[in-house]
Order: sequence, then structure tokens, then C-alpha cells
Amino acid sequence: MPAPASEIGPGDEELIRVASLARQRAYAPYSTYKVGAAIRTKRNKVHSGANVENASYGLTVCAERTAAFAAVNAGDTNFDAIAIVIDDERLPTPCGACRQVLAEFSPEMRVILATTGGKRKVTTLAELLPDPFLPENLRR
Ligand code: THU
Repeated sequence: MPAPASEIGPGDEELIRVASLARQRAYAPYSTYKVGAAIRTKRNKVHSGANVENASYGLTVCAERTAAFAAVNAGDTNFDAIAIVIDDERLPTPCGACRQVLAEFSPEMRVILATTGGKRKVTTLAELLPDPFLPENLRR
């Protein structure tokens, strides 16, 4: 029987490790808040990313979207899970923009929140973003 969506499952710690490595490449000189993300796709490929800030602050892109766009650019648009890692006491939580971008591809995906210190929380995108605006909303 597969583990419930809300529990750490097989492969989750590996995905967290990849996200932690990606985090080391974060470019966050302004906030110093470094975030790493890694997406496992249904084809069992992993795509990672980190946040990239800019002197024009509003141009900053979050780790989750960097990872999502890397996956899409590799032709991998069906996401199984994302791991998000920060080095903090508190667990990370993806911003609203990233929730919406992930929902475009996989509104039911699992979301694994982790700290470098070992805290873990597993949830789903459906729980984080109920009733997302999806491609079918544009269908007439
Ligand atoms: N950030 C992420 O990369 N992911 C999140 O889930 C929240 C925020 C980044 C954006 C910015 O570089 C820094 O964290 C502070 O907002």
C-alpha cells in the first residue's frame, strides 16, 4: 500500500538532499534567505533550482519556480512532488505565485517542506492552494 500523501515516503529524503544542494547555489545577497527546491516528475526525473535575486528587487524568482521552469524546459510537465529546503528554525512555505505556477502543471502534487536541521512536513498542493485557476478555466 502506498504511503499516505501526507507522510514522508520512499525517495523523499533523496529529493530533500537534491534541494539542499540546489540551495547552495541560491543567489540571495539582498535577503540572505536561501531556498532550494527539487521536483520529482512522474517520469522519475529530478529538476532543481534555487532563488535568484536581483538588484531590482521585484525581478527576484523563487526557488520553486526556478525548479518548475527547469522541469518544463526539459519537457517534464507532470510533477509528482517538490521538496523545498531552507536553513531556518521555521519550515518553508511556498509563496502564492509559486503555488499557482505549480498548480498549472500538477494541482495534486505532494509538497515536502524541510529545514537543513531536519524538520519535515509533508502536504499537498491541493491543500496549500484550494480551487486554483487552471487551464480548463480558459476553455469555452
Ligand atoms: N523565496 C523563495 O525562493 N521561495 C519561497 O518559498 C519564499 C521566498 C525567496 C525569494 C527571495 O529571494 C527570498 O526568498 C526572500 O523572499
